[in-house]
Amino acid sequence: MLAIHRSSSGYSQDWIAYCKAENIPHKVVNCYAADILEQLTGCSGLMWHHHHTDAKDVVFARQLLSALEHAGIQVFPDWRTGWHFDDKIGQFYLLQLLQVPVVPTVIYYEKAVALQWAKTAQFPKVFKLRGGAGSLNVRKVSTEKEARQLIYTAFGSGFPAYNRWEDLKENIRRKRMGIGSWLDLAKSIRRLFVATAFARIRGRERGYILFQDFIPGNTYDTRVVTVGNKAFGIRRLVRKGDFRASGSGYIEYEPEKISLECVRLAFETSEKLGAQVVAYDFVQDTNGNPLMVEINYGYAHASYAKCPGYWDKDLHWHQGSFNSTHWMVEDFVHRLDPA
Ligand SMILES: Nc1ncnc2c1ncn2[C@@H]1O[C@H](COP(=O)(O)OP(=O)(O)O)[C@@H](O)[C@H]1O
Ligand SMILES: [Mg+2]
Repeated sequence: MLAIHRSSSGYSQDWIAYCKAENIPHKVVNCYAADILEQLTGCSGLMWHHHHTDAKDVVFARQLLSALEHAGIQVFPDWRTGWHFDDKIGQFYLLQLLQVPVVPTVIYYEKAVALQWAKTAQFPKVFKLRGGAGSLNVRKVSTEKEARQLIYTAFGSGFPAYNRWEDLKENIRRKRMGIGSWLDLAKSIRRLFVATAFARIRGRERGYILFQDFIPGNTYDTRVVTVGNKAFGIRRLVRKGDFRASGSGYIEYEPEKISLECVRLAFETSEKLGAQVVAYDFVQDTNGNPLMVEINYGYAHASYAKCPGYWDKDLHWHQGSFNSTHWMVEDFVHRLDPA
């Protein structure tokens, strides 16, 4: 029996619909309930699309899933897929160890060392918080002075994990573009005055600073997602007058726009990671070689419905629309019952 935690957004509604359509024995559970372990009695696996901006999920999703996995119950996302989720610090160490091409990055945990680094660093650099999505916590640093200010803040008052001003600016931009709603805009105005549960729980980020080399000349980033033996991709164009692509809303789906080298590297890395699902973001260096900027098991699956097909591990193209959340269930069920 497969247990699925139902959320109002994310993969779970599609998972449940797929299980119903395919007659896959399943049970809907509530991970927030005090009796979650009893609910799981008789289940051999749990799928939960926990989200990095859900106030409750960030408190305990990893702990519950890790405990279950530790005790021999299969979970999605499993430890190899999920421990580094929304954590660019963990990802950087991991990807380097796995010898994946990443953007040169420094992370410091001591103010004095970071300030010393800033004296001789070549600018521009890119500053990032360890968490966040849609480019909200990513910015360019053009001078040593700017870097020093960021370092003082990082080791002083810190940065809000949820940046309400950036969020508002983004919602205005998306509304202007015609892809945002009035409701989203109104909500982000409200959040200026009323802290969300997420903002209160996550608090401020401090005690570390992360800088990367700024990789120039990228007018888009490439996102390739692997789900088991299948991969698909999109290209996201940068915002006007900006270097940041993720969250821009300008998406291209044509497969010929996706570098096969990125697809190959994605499959190779997923193999090394032993991960169930990974969305990779790539930029390209000045020679056109892909550099990975982040990995993620969660992605906005609905925006990928327009992908016209996928690649298999031999990089053969399979034309036709698909729902990648169904593959997650297929792979997971196969793991529960390999026969
Ligand atoms: N080191 C870098 N050099 C140039 N552009 C970058 C660099 N890192 C990220 N970007 C751009 O910024 C965007 C957001 O960065 P990313 O690390 O993926 O953060 P997020 O988690 O918000 O998506 C990327 O989509 C890419 O376009
Ligand atoms: Mg990204």
